[in-house]
Amino acid sequence: MAIVIIRQDKKIDLWKNALKKADNSLKVYSYLEEHPKEEITMAIIWKHPAGSLTGYPNLKCIASAGAGVDYIFEDPTRPTNVPITRIVDPLLASDMSEHVLAVILAHIKNLNTYKQQQIKSLWNPLEYSRIKDTTVGILGLGELGALTAQDLANVGFQVQGWSRSKKSLDQVTTFAGKEELKTFLSSTQILVCLLPLTPETKGFLNKDLLGQLPQGAFLVNVARGGHLVDGDLLMLLDNGHLSGACLDVYHTEPLPEAHPFWNHPKVHMTPHYASVSDTNSVVPQLVENYRRIQNEEELMNRVDMEKGY
Ligand code: NAP
Ligand code: GLV
Repeated sequence: MAIVIIRQDKKIDLWKNALKKADNSLKVYSYLEEHPKEEITMAIIWKHPAGSLTGYPNLKCIASAGAGVDYIFEDPTRPTNVPITRIVDPLLASDMSEHVLAVILAHIKNLNTYKQQQIKSLWNPLEYSRIKDTTVGILGLGELGALTAQDLANVGFQVQGWSRSKKSLDQVTTFAGKEELKTFLSSTQILVCLLPLTPETKGFLNKDLLGQLPQGAFLVNVARGGHLVDGDLLMLLDNGHLSGACLDVYHTEPLPEAHPFWNHPKVHMTPHYASVSDTNSVVPQLVENYRRIQNEEELMNRVDMEKGY
């Protein structure tokens, strides 16, 4: 039995060392080095090159090193009979919640605009909003969305959330299903997307949906670039329906130099780094799943193959 790590960034050694530190007896390979493919039972991957999951005859688990698994479903060459797991981790959730709080505070206190004014040496005080008067709506009340909603409510925001199935969360008004989406949107001043990217949610943030938000609403997309129809967002920013957007994720990453988001005064950008798996925090669940493979036990954090998340 052995583990292979497949990712195209410079973090293979970081993950290898964290796994070895947790259990020095583990056999861990980088996909870039010579390795016995028939021994591999677990692949720990992040945005792997298409085709790199083939040729492992004894693979028992494809483990996403992040919360999202959309990139795995998008690979037509992946072995479809192998279970997929994902990361569920308290730090990943609290990092996301902190990021969203920072973005929302910067927006309601005009910090992005003041930065732009400072560059032009402009002294121009602006009306600000108060936390208690601001309604934040969260699309997706899963591991990240639920904690973010709860934390924002504890800070004093009016918080509402929408998901596929009905949830019950302290101090958060919850909505579920297509029938309740309109009501949810009509009272949301700041919309935060924390949905997984699936065939159902692809292009979800389009002109029809964003157009149902009240005039002056603000969008925070920290889920995936594929949720957003970029042209629709630009149209709604330019016609004044939306006051701005803060984006962490894009259709193509890094965002191509010529993309209009880079220079749009109402678009604020972060480079897909809202919340990143912390190796020390997430390695124990991966090692536990590796042990479970060995003992033929049920895997933790298994992805529903039908739902795609
Ligand atoms: P999760 O636990 O699977 O939660 C997903 C939520 O979305 C659930 O509440 C689910 O509803 C809801 N949902 C899914 N499809 C839906 C649909 N068609 N209609 C309505 N609701 C739907 O996911 P998570 O761990 O919170 O992560 C969410 C996403 O965040 C990830 O998939 C990833 O793309 C993104 N992410 C981004 C970063 C970053 O740095 N930017 C970091 C980590 C994750 P039910 O509960 O009813 O099933
Ligand atoms: C990051 O985007 C993740 O899905 O964990």
